[in-house]
Amino acid sequence: MIKSIIRGTGKFVPPNLVTNQDLEKFMDTSDEWIQKRTGIKQRYWISEDSPMGASDLGFEAAKQALDAAGWTAEDLDFIIFATLSPDIMFPGGGCLLAAKLGLNSTPTLDIRQQCTGFLYGFATADAYIKSGLAKKVLLVGGEVHSSGLDKSTRGRDVTVIFGDGAAATCIEGVDNEERVGLLASVLHTDGNYAASLMTELPASNLFNRNPPGLPLDDPRYFPVMDGPSIFKKAVRLLPKVTHEVLEKAGIKLDQIDLVVPHQANKRINQAFGQFLKLEDDKIFHNIEKYGNTTAASIPLALHEAIEQGRTGKSGETVLFVALGAGLTWGAAIYRFF
Ligand code: UT7
Repeated sequence: MIKSIIRGTGKFVPPNLVTNQDLEKFMDTSDEWIQKRTGIKQRYWISEDSPMGASDLGFEAAKQALDAAGWTAEDLDFIIFATLSPDIMFPGGGCLLAAKLGLNSTPTLDIRQQCTGFLYGFATADAYIKSGLAKKVLLVGGEVHSSGLDKSTRGRDVTVIFGDGAAATCIEGVDNEERVGLLASVLHTDGNYAASLMTELPASNLFNRNPPGLPLDDPRYFPVMDGPSIFKKAVRLLPKVTHEVLEKAGIKLDQIDLVVPHQANKRINQAFGQFLKLEDDKIFHNIEKYGNTTAASIPLALHEAIEQGRTGKSGETVLFVALGAGLTWGAAIYRFF
């Protein structure tokens, strides 16, 4: 039976390091508040002198993942690009990334599922692989949040948490009878909560999408978030979807060696751990270094977890779990080959 196996991973963040103290210079916030409420100490943002798009960051991550897999771009038969911050309105980042990789006919698919982009992407890659539509898939999550954040005090609850970054995963269909690869995944959406975390403008549902002389004092040009409501939903739904995916995979929580969750807020992941009675060393955290990189967050954490030897050995089982704008949430269980 065909299994979806991760062959290589890669990550890239722009070089411009932004500390909490840097943020204090242009908004009413404090390192103490940010660390206490979110666990974040720093993040990387693109800089004015070298602007980059999500596909540029994704390109760097993709090169690393391809090298790690021992593949060239020409080996790929499908590319999935997950982002909420596409370089441009259209075409999608997957098209731009494929061109940067030197490809001109490899099919691409963009996924707009925010923080669950990697989960939707992995499930999609798995479905393509199992249906025979693809064998070697590149899944990239990349975000440039910083160019669209409200850097005044009005936007501080949102702006302090987001970082730019990308990560990539090479996934291959392998014929194997063992219980390896993506064992199960569960995905959900509830669009009734779309307004809990969104950027409203520019909007194609308006007669005039880009009004002349954009009024940048209008908060609808910037992401707004009902943070406490999302926080509560995350703490309730992440354990729930974990039970769903465990049941689907037919395995017990104590068979999970490491949880690699979406890095939205360290407190959310700690609360998740407490709810499930997991030791903190069973949950991977790197939010303190990168902030919330949305679609890049899980693959970036996975890359680092492998790099640090926290997971990646044959037979080890990881749980991916995420909730974010949409609302979308989900979980997946992966066992290393
Ligand atoms: O990845 C996508 C999904 N998103 C999430 O999972 C995010 C979930 N939500 C959160 O992580 C948290 O709600 C936040 C980190 C966004 C906010 O933390 P909170 O503990 O929920 O704070 P709050 O919004 O209830 O605000 C508490 C206080 C308020 O002041 P008052 O009204 O008590 O005087 C805020 O104005 O903290 C204030 N505040 C800040 N103060 C300093 C909000 N943001 C900041 C800030 N610096 N950056």
